[in-house]
Amino acid sequence: MNLRTEAAHGAIFPVGPGAGPARPQPVFPPRAQQVFARNYPETPHRLDHTLAQHDLLTLDSLASLATRLPDQSVEYNCGDLPIGIDGKPGATGLGIAETIRHIATSNSWAVLKNVEQVPAYRSLLLSLLEELRPAIERRTGAMLRPQGYVFISSPDAVTPYHFDPEHNILLQLVGSKVMTQFPAGDPRFAPDTVYEAYHTGGARELRWNDDFAAEGTEFALQAGQAVYVPVMAPHFVRNGRVSSISLSITWRSDWSFAEADARAFNHLLRRLGFTPRAPGRWPAGNRAKALASRAIRRLSPRKSRAAQD
Ligand SMILES: [Fe+2]
Repeated sequence: MNLRTEAAHGAIFPVGPGAGPARPQPVFPPRAQQVFARNYPETPHRLDHTLAQHDLLTLDSLASLATRLPDQSVEYNCGDLPIGIDGKPGATGLGIAETIRHIATSNSWAVLKNVEQVPAYRSLLLSLLEELRPAIERRTGAMLRPQGYVFISSPDAVTPYHFDPEHNILLQLVGSKVMTQFPAGDPRFAPDTVYEAYHTGGARELRWNDDFAAEGTEFALQAGQAVYVPVMAPHFVRNGRVSSISLSITWRSDWSFAEADARAFNHLLRRLGFTPRAPGRWPAGNRAKALASRAIRRLSPRKSRAAQD
């Protein structure tokens, strides 16, 4: 087995040949893998996949999974939200299993986080990522920290405007949704100070402005389609007219960790009165600032978000 070691970040996770079960057919067909290889890591794009029906991803299986995950890995709330919100949305009063089993009528949005904590889901996640590993590692170095998230959404539910620190592919399994993405690293859509605050413990929600709407790119997803989201690209998601299940497969890379650490370093520089330049986007590296940030972290008892995610 090929062990990938996240030496700089203290975690070890096996991602390698033999880590997942053998699949007779790839979930990402050859043409999807070619599209991914051409566009990764900076260009959002749609992909086809064959995962639309899988025993681990039915409502019953997911309701059962939700009760097996630790509380902090399960989040759910009401689904009829605006694109921009302040703080966390309210609860519905239902339990998580009931929310999922009755998602068609529960007016809810639910996410099961880090499903790789359960061995069968971990095997599924690793088998999917294994298909993409050559294309990933050619561009951004070792594929690190694979994580899986399942989203279960009521009709018309909205995931408000936010960003994520991972490389991410969202696979639509049941129903439909539209993800609207905005360019990663453009401070018009997400100020550098927000990214910096996130990497030092802040939230990932972003302030929405209706003027942004015309500049977003919509990716409409039906079951059997997926979309790639670059690291830190702002986005929001609007569910279709029927309830939906989506699987998000994510990973980090040497590049994404360096970008995150450079953001944390910029946060420090800004507190000292400087106006630091934003980290470069791939293929630019951010090695000097990342090394400085890691050196400071070793001296400080308080870890930054970049080291904890
Ligand atoms: Fe997201």
